Amino acid sequence: MKIDILTLFPEMFTNFIDASIIGRAVNKNIVTINCINIRDFSKDKHRRVDDYPFGGGAGMVMSPEPIYNAISSVKSEKSKIIYLTPKGRTYNQHIANNLSLEEHIILLCGHYEGIDNRVVEAYIDDEISIGDYVLTGGEIAAMAVVDSIVRLLPGVLNNQQSFVDDSHFNGLLEYPQYTRPRIFNGMEVPEVLLSGNHEKINKWRKYESLKITYERRPDMIEAKNLDKEQQEMLKDIIKSTMNASVDNNNLENKNKL
Ligand code: ADE
Repeated sequence: MKIDILTLFPEMFTNFIDASIIGRAVNKNIVTINCINIRDFSKDKHRRVDDYPFGGGAGMVMSPEPIYNAISSVKSEKSKIIYLTPKGRTYNQHIANNLSLEEHIILLCGHYEGIDNRVVEAYIDDEISIGDYVLTGGEIAAMAVVDSIVRLLPGVLNNQQSFVDDSHFNGLLEYPQYTRPRIFNGMEVPEVLLSGNHEKINKWRKYESLKITYERRPDMIEAKNLDKEQQEMLKDIIKSTMNASVDNNNLENKNKL
């Protein structure tokens, strides 16, 4: 896969591209990541890339020409051009999975009050937001998108299983994980994980994954088709949650007396 990042701040990406799992994926030639400085495509003698908004108002708008020229310098028939903006559709694992199948992704990072809308309308394939909050620019959003895509590429993670069990990959949050020591500050690891019985362990993980998703993200449970075993588990989880809340109420009432 090839990823081109169009930005006014390419230096922000230096460590990101070199370090950790992304760095390894680059070294293994699984992905090529280039940063293109939009300012290099400005024809202005002061290398300006922004201007006042037509109609007035606060802030500056990124001019269309440098962005268009930067896009043209890397675009091919196979490119998917994505603009990072708080106005975009909200990013999620499903979008990451789809993007990981692309051959060439161009990520455009906006700044100031955004970019000239003619560029968006004519040359952008998709607009993505990484959440309902506003960043100073699209760079951190672009890093989030690159990170989430690259880790899905074959050969990047050592064990393919490691993303199959991830939160969100299968529409549920991930079960809790533990490592050594067996006892930490008096707290023990759940017994079943030490049993060596993989059937039991898988069942426990399936249950815990369902439980944490039910507690934290009931919307995900509603959106998911649960298999028979998960449906039974969910009934049990709901029952024990209800019992726990009855117990809590009893305790509160007792304390009031
Ligand atoms: N640029 C500024 N805020 C953003 C956000 N939330 N997502 C993507 N790009 C952005």
